[in-house]
Amino acid sequence: MQKLLLVEDDPALQFTIQTALEEKGYAVEAVSTTGEAIERLAGDVFPIVISDIYIDERTGLDVLDAAKRRDPNCSVILMTGRGTIETVMAATRGGAFDYIAKPFDLDTMLHAVERAEASRTAGDDEAEEEELPETEMIGSSPGMVEIYKNVVKVAPTDATVIIEGETGTGKEVVARLIHRLSRRANQPFVPVDCASIAPSLLESELFGAMRGAFTGADRDRMGVFEAAHRGTVLLDEIGDIELNFQFKLLRFLQEREIRPVGASRSKEVDVRVLAATNRDLQRLVDEGKFREDLWFRLNVVRIVIPPLCERRSDIPLLGRFFLNKYNGRYNRDVKLMDSGLRALQDYTWPGNIRQLQHVIERLTILADRVDGEAVHAALTAMESRDRPVETLAEAEEDQIRRVLTATGGNKSKAAQILGIERKTLYRKLDRMKL
Ligand SMILES: Nc1ncnc2c1ncn2[C@@H]1O[C@H](COP(=O)(O)OP(=O)(O)OP(=O)(O)O)[C@@H](O)[C@H]1O
Ligand SMILES: [Mg+2]
Repeated sequence: MQKLLLVEDDPALQFTIQTALEEKGYAVEAVSTTGEAIERLAGDVFPIVISDIYIDERTGLDVLDAAKRRDPNCSVILMTGRGTIETVMAATRGGAFDYIAKPFDLDTMLHAVERAEASRTAGDDEAEEEELPETEMIGSSPGMVEIYKNVVKVAPTDATVIIEGETGTGKEVVARLIHRLSRRANQPFVPVDCASIAPSLLESELFGAMRGAFTGADRDRMGVFEAAHRGTVLLDEIGDIELNFQFKLLRFLQEREIRPVGASRSKEVDVRVLAATNRDLQRLVDEGKFREDLWFRLNVVRIVIPPLCERRSDIPLLGRFFLNKYNGRYNRDVKLMDSGLRALQDYTWPGNIRQLQHVIERLTILADRVDGEAVHAALTAMESRDRPVETLAEAEEDQIRRVLTATGGNKSKAAQILGIERKTLYRKLDRMKL
């Protein structure tokens, strides 16, 4: 039975939708606040989420964000009676599956849910391509071919794999590919960004926690390892895990048992663990910051993705791929000129493929054609590093741009680095017209 989370504060409407969906055989969990929704999403994986947009001090967009971060494949359907171009754009940008205006008849809703479900079970036919960009791997340089070979070899096994590479080189893409080519493909793939979770919460996030285990734990919470049972967990930024938690992780990798915080007994789970890092783990080991035994445990198979500047022959392929994609998405017909290609190939790409992707996206929207000049202009605008700074406001905008470039446009990460709420960042970006 397909699980579904429904977030709607109007009790009558909540009841109506829930009843209709349950009749169709869905296991519906209904909540009426964003807080409850986000908490449920932290404790469990829901393939489909339906959420109102205007609920309380947070919105359905926050629910969307939480759902997507938990499981990028989650299909989120948003509904609102106060739709604006801004909310539709924000929903689209956030990866919402559909957007339904209230009032709607129940058939519209049921139809959207059916399509959401069909899109999840559909194979990889052409229309699906846009839905699965994360597992699309482009590149035919020797370095990439080596990686494909390793991925194909290791995917069907249950081996732990450590994926290393600079930021934006495609570590998560490799992890998803391994999962998709494994026997676990139809089970959950759950990425966990170890760097963004407070060390004190990492244990309960991964292993779960019993009600009352700590203040605020007002119910049992399922951890990632249990939620991903039979599937794959990606421990991202594993180099950032604190030493004292590293031991618990090591024990888990050896015993494949979890004991939720506050629980008196352990239970077995069946997950495959992949790990990724942009830090030099060997060096962290040498410096005593990473346990050597854990390093050995993880390092059953090691895949190292070379930075883009070491496989420049992939740049034309990637450039064309992204241009195609964004031309389609933004309904544009921007062409790649020889001079543009040369400019792309000459650049060093410190942000690797993610940066290339963002530059092309920007060019597709703003430029008439991708020639040398346009590429240079885009790179300068996105770097804006050496510009002399005048006012405090400008300094702030500069810093925001810089951090956004560094995070490859990831606003949640950027807000975290900047030490501000995501909402505040959005407000500032609005003002900057970004
Ligand atoms: N070979 C590739 N072909 C097509 N797209 C790619 C490829 N590698 C990466 N990408 C795209 O580049 C972006 C960054 O990839 P990904 O998130 O996997 O990087 P990462 O190594 O995990 O970066 P970080 O260390 O910053 O988390 C994504 O949008 C991804 O789809
Ligand atoms: Mg990553």
